Formats: sequence, structure tokens, C-alpha cells
Amino acid sequence: MKPVMLKPDSLLTLEEGFILTYPRRDVEVLKRRIEAVKRLGVNLIEFTGSKEVSNVNLLGKGTRSVIVKVWVSGYTYALKIRRLDSSIRSLKSEAENMKIANSVSVGPKLISYNSDMILMELVDGKPILEWMNTQTDSDVVRRTLFKLILDAYRLDAVGLDHGELSRASKHILVKSNNEPIILDFGSSSTNRRPSNVSSLVSYLFIRGTLPKNIQKFCQYSSREEILDGLRNYKSKPSKEALYNLIGRLGL
Ligand SMILES: Nc1ncnc2c1ncn2[C@@H]1O[C@H](COP(=O)(O)OP(=O)(O)O)[C@@H](O)[C@H]1O
Ligand SMILES: [Mg+2]
Repeated sequence: MKPVMLKPDSLLTLEEGFILTYPRRDVEVLKRRIEAVKRLGVNLIEFTGSKEVSNVNLLGKGTRSVIVKVWVSGYTYALKIRRLDSSIRSLKSEAENMKIANSVSVGPKLISYNSDMILMELVDGKPILEWMNTQTDSDVVRRTLFKLILDAYRLDAVGLDHGELSRASKHILVKSNNEPIILDFGSSSTNRRPSNVSSLVSYLFIRGTLPKNIQKFCQYSSREEILDGLRNYKSKPSKEALYNLIGRLGL
């Protein structure tokens, strides 16, 4: 399908403008948001991607936002737009938490934000389950999972709990160079004890559909040994405990 590239101002009259105020239609909010999009420096919005909302293609759709591809001075980015029915009133604390994640090289790079939008690095990747289904090389899979667990460790170490890594299928994209990226800091917090490594390891190796897939690639220990490694790490989240756990995972 041909991509649709539109200037922000044209959204006032075109059907695609609906995406800026999704799931409502509100001309006043639309006008304000078009101005906000322009202030972020966005020249063009490109309606492409695997998600579809009333015949308009998007990069993604979550419960709090919609994500579109945009162009700023000739470069592409992802723009996260707060849904009008979102329970969250502002994206500012999400952006602040992204900044903390970025300080340890985790997550899409934050470019700029306001209360309704976050402009960030566009991650061109596949959801982890889809990526895993196309893999044949166990070294590649093990390296990617290792990197992912290290990212979770870095978030633990900096005191930011992601909050949704136990349901990680929508929140991990793997790029074509096999680099995994953790997305969506909308539920993240610095006020809880971080459990990123525990949530991620239990998602990957204990629960869900991934454990069966992963068995092909990693000679990991029994469920009890993994849980024991996790308990050790939780009681003392040191690098040593992390490496002991990673050993038990066959990475
Ligand atoms: N930076 C990005 N680059 C590419 N796709 C993204 C990016 N951020 C989010 N997406 C896509 O949009 C979907 C929803 O984004 P998410 O941040 O989870 O929104 P919500 O906070 O509403 O749950 C993601 O699952 C992903 O597919
Ligand atoms: Mg989400």
C-alpha cells in the first residue's frame, strides 16, 4: 500500500486528523494538537504501519496512545500521541522515565515531548514472538536474550521499574541487526522496588508461549534452578547474582 504523507495543517480537514484525537472527534482539541505537533518540529506525518484504525495505517495502538511515523527535518521518528480516552492525563512523567532509561542506554531515544505527545526514535523491528519464530541460529537468539536481560538489569540498577515486562510481547521489538529494544515506559515508576529482571526472566523462561520456543536455543536449567537463581538475585541484585542467573538460563 502506498504510504500517505501529510502535512500537520492538512489534518484539520482530512479524515486522518481523527488519529490525533482518537477515539473522539473534537475540532478544538485537533487544532491545539496540530499546533503542538508543529512545535515539535514535525513537517510530515506518514500513515504507514501494521496497525489500522478506520482505514488509516499506524505504527502502533495501545490502551493509552496511538503511535505514528513522522518526519522532522528529513529524519523519521515515532510520535506517541495520548488517546483522549486514556486514564493518564499527561505523558510528561512517561517522558521523564524514558529519560532515566535512556541514561543507561535503554529504550527508544527521547527527542522531545509535551503533555500529549512524545517524539522518539523510530524502532524498526519485529515483536519478540514474531522475531523468535523466524530464528534458526542459537548464538543469535542467546545473544539477543542476554542483551535484553542486561537492559532489564540496567533498569533495576538505576531504580526504574518498567511495570509491564511480565507481559512483554508488545513491549519488546527486535531490530534487523537482532538488537532488542524495550518500549513503553507508560507504566514505569521510580517509586517501586524494580523487578525488571524477575518479570522478564519469568516471561521468557517460565510463563507464556516463549519457553517452548526458547528450549530449541538455550540449554537452560530446571524451573526450580531458575527460580532459585531469581530468588538469589532478588535478595541481592548484584552483577554476580545476575551472571549466576544468566548461567542457569543457558545464555
Ligand atoms: N518508538 C517506536 N517505534 C516503533 N514502534 C513503536 C514505538 N513505540 C511504540 N511502538 C508501537 O506501538 C505500540 C503501542 O505503543 P505503547 O508505547 O505500548 O503504547 P501504550 O502506552 O498506549 O500501551 C507498541 O506495541 C509498538 O508496536
Ligand atoms: Mg503499551
